[in-house]
Amino acid sequence: MKEKFLEVLRTTKQNVFVLAAENGDQRHAMTVSSVFSVSLEPMSMAVSVNQSASLHDLLMEETKFSLNLLTADQVDIAEICSGAEEGQIRFNHPDWNLEKIPYLQSAQSNLFCTCKKIVPLYSHSLVIGEVDDIFHSGKTDPLIYQDGKYES
Ligand SMILES: Cc1cc2nc3c(=O)[nH]c(=O)nc-3n(C[C@H](O)[C@H](O)[C@H](O)COP(=O)(O)O)c2cc1C
Repeated sequence: MKEKFLEVLRTTKQNVFVLAAENGDQRHAMTVSSVFSVSLEPMSMAVSVNQSASLHDLLMEETKFSLNLLTADQVDIAEICSGAEEGQIRFNHPDWNLEKIPYLQSAQSNLFCTCKKIVPLYSHSLVIGEVDDIFHSGKTDPLIYQDGKYES
């Protein structure tokens, strides 16, 4: 049944985001697609983060993070942020703005959040954040992932 479960998931079209945060001298970014809006009042988002991901232990209540919805031409960034090299090296791409909360300047949209709850569940944690600020480019061409590959 697990194979069938994966088969069903592979048929879905997923929006691709990069989750980024920093805490003290630690800064991490990772590609995520398990992202959904939770509520409008307050505006809140949830993302499911694997407990083994390097970003996981950096997140605590009140940590600020950004959710960057990638555009169709940002496959390179999605690959960097899910690749073998982790940590600071993922921020070498020129699109990063690292002045405050790290975010990708050419993303379709950036949602800036404050973490309000972390719910550990099985291998992952559901990270829930309230939206403090939004940059929206007006573009409507998000990067899509389906069946193990990016749509082009
Ligand atoms: C399209 C795509 C979507 C992903 N979505 C998630 C996700 O929602 N949650 C998650 O924990 N990992 C997700 N991953 C895997 C992480 O990006 C990957 O394991 C990353 O390397 C974790 O960061 P680390 O290497 O710094 O630990 C996804 C990978 C890809 C390619």
